[in-house]
Amino acid sequence: MRLKIAVLAGDGIGPEVTKQATNILRAVAEMGGHEFTFVEGLIGGTAITETGSPLPTGTLDAALECDAVLLGAVGDNKFNALPPDKRPEAGLLQIRQALGGFANLRPSIAYTALSASSPLRPEVTKDVDILFVRELLGGLYFGAPRWWDRDSNEAINTMRYTRDEVVRVARVAFELAGNRRQKVTSVDKANVLEVSQLWRATVTEVAKDYPSVTLEHQLVDSMAMHIMNIPRNFDVVLTENLFGDILSDEAGVITGSLGMLPSATIGGAVNLYEPVHGSAPDIAGTGKANPLGAILTAAMILRHSANLEQDAKAVEAAVNKVLDAGYRTADIARGQQPGQTPVSTQEMGKLVHQALAESIDRRQAMHAV
Ligand code: IPM
Ligand code: MN
Repeated sequence: MRLKIAVLAGDGIGPEVTKQATNILRAVAEMGGHEFTFVEGLIGGTAITETGSPLPTGTLDAALECDAVLLGAVGDNKFNALPPDKRPEAGLLQIRQALGGFANLRPSIAYTALSASSPLRPEVTKDVDILFVRELLGGLYFGAPRWWDRDSNEAINTMRYTRDEVVRVARVAFELAGNRRQKVTSVDKANVLEVSQLWRATVTEVAKDYPSVTLEHQLVDSMAMHIMNIPRNFDVVLTENLFGDILSDEAGVITGSLGMLPSATIGGAVNLYEPVHGSAPDIAGTGKANPLGAILTAAMILRHSANLEQDAKAVEAAVNKVLDAGYRTADIARGQQPGQTPVSTQEMGKLVHQALAESIDRRQAMHAV
């Protein structure tokens, strides 16, 4: 298997967590005899500082020639005063649009070992396994017109969707639900917004092609509450862009930390992979960052771009094993629980690497007999 991956580490903790993710990918390649090549590029605040642009042409051209893009994080307080189209985040939105992936998959899983890290009671989070399918190229993020007129003190953003944009992301949600627990919860604000009425009508229509999958609709405000109260009720959660942004961060509470959440964006020319967490500039370079979101994102590359499902599962199992053994970065080490060992970003990466190597050794030994 050959895979060319653009690595855009970005800002803040982006480079340190991405390094742990690429280490894991290198290990998988080496152990499985695959050829993964990595092409590095600038994005976000670091790209602004070095080139003046949050997404230099060289980065985009290189990314478009790769099979997958692994992105760390973008955002730096230094640029807070800039207008949205000049900020580091603009680089991310531009690359999302240029790569064309419209379905952003954000799994939120309750790891048994982390049940004490969540402020939710263990009986609430037990067995939770939600897959958010967040529409990534429409809605308020990209709708026109958009402006802030400082003279009239008025600003506008536009929430806009076409039927086709809803159909294509809804299909992804139903297909994925077919291989899971056969349920799609579509989130909208159809009691107030026309866009949501279009969304709901379209999703209902698409559902007819998937008779084995149950569809339910939830209003986004009550959904925010249900996710905390009865997260186990949800399987695939389909949302428009902004609602998905908000609800997926909220779902980090189930896992215990935003630092645990991976994502994959599929459906375009090149798939884009990024952990859900941000650049966390306050802890950058301190060794406190949790690399597991980035490592689990690497597992999603193996699953969705390399078609190496077994290896994806092996990486996820290695993460589970390290958590079960009590190793914790600062964000998931809540309180003074016995049996926990605090570790740095790099140590956590190494531990997952070791656990992975052991499991792959065992697999190969089993094949040999
Ligand atoms: C995310 C982030 C981005 C988003 C920002 C950095 C533009 O919050 O991936 O969830 O809003 O999509
Ligand atoms: Mn977000």
